[in-house]
Amino acid sequence: MLIDRFHRRIDYLRISVTDKCDLRCSYCIPQGFTEFEKPANWLSFADIERVVGAFARLGVSRFRLTGGEPLLRKNLSQLVANLAVLSGVEDLSLTTNGTQLSRFAYDLRHAGLNRLNVSLDSLRRECVQTISGKDSYEQVIKSLQVARAAGFEQIKINMVALPGVNIDDIEEMVGFCIANGFILRLIEVMPMGKSGWKQDYFNLLELIENLRPKYQLHKSNRIYGGGPAKYWESADGRFTLGLITPRSQHFCATCNRVRMTVDGTLYLCLGQEHSVALKPLLQAGCSDAELEQAIRQAIDLKPEKHEFNEHPEKIIRIMAKTGG
Ligand code: 5AD
Ligand code: SF4
Repeated sequence: MLIDRFHRRIDYLRISVTDKCDLRCSYCIPQGFTEFEKPANWLSFADIERVVGAFARLGVSRFRLTGGEPLLRKNLSQLVANLAVLSGVEDLSLTTNGTQLSRFAYDLRHAGLNRLNVSLDSLRRECVQTISGKDSYEQVIKSLQVARAAGFEQIKINMVALPGVNIDDIEEMVGFCIANGFILRLIEVMPMGKSGWKQDYFNLLELIENLRPKYQLHKSNRIYGGGPAKYWESADGRFTLGLITPRSQHFCATCNRVRMTVDGTLYLCLGQEHSVALKPLLQAGCSDAELEQAIRQAIDLKPEKHEFNEHPEKIIRIMAKTGG
């Protein structure tokens, strides 16, 4: 088992398979950003599989593929198929912006992907365009329909709450998620990189006080994926709302995850720089035991908490690099 210095059990690895994206969400990739990782530095599928195998042997059972936009990485379904059969991999999920998902949803499902998170910040086409830099709304809606038809039962919508931009769209999104059986997750913007650190966040703990009576929401003890979201359920059980509140109420004490970037670097915290590069080791032909040892040592570096509130100006990597 992987236990860090603060007695947290690490059972979740998020893997960024590319830092590239076809969108430019205002809180994520800065306009004109060009410092993407060179393909020569990407971890191969075979190496990703080795790392996942090692984490699985160390007791990690949940894995998420993310990015950037993971579906921009060629043959992603093949990677999913290879990971899904590894011993110890119990839950394999994907975070996507939905622009390409309608093309790949069936393949991903057949390959063994369990769950999907799709980013959608508004149901107003112009608002989506303003936030993401592209007129992607129709494609994302189509992707959601195809994903459901392909058999994905649990689909979460990620909506980043942006003051002055999409707060008034939240109620419409609630209605949309109720009508379609999607779980809605509202996210406070984190000061990640140049694009994130100037963004005001919207206090979601205040919002819940308004939504609570209207939808008869009560706190849920169910776990929908093992993440930091606090979940609320409507009295009739038809609606589930997750709040991700890194700013108003940080959840570092229960953090259970680490992240790997496309070049095979493990980052131990979204908001800190501690990292360990696994690629040199893999390239040098390390044994499984050596790989596991390097992972254990990395977990020992995991810091206690982020400092988004204390030092919001500390410019950390953009989200697309670390993997959202
Ligand atoms: N703060 C909070 N969430 C972010 N995401 C990207 N950048 C940020 C940020 N600065 C979210 C996206 C997407 C997921 C991958 O990460 O909304 O849903
Ligand atoms: Fe792309 Fe996701 Fe970042 Fe938006 S939030 S730019 S969709 S990686």
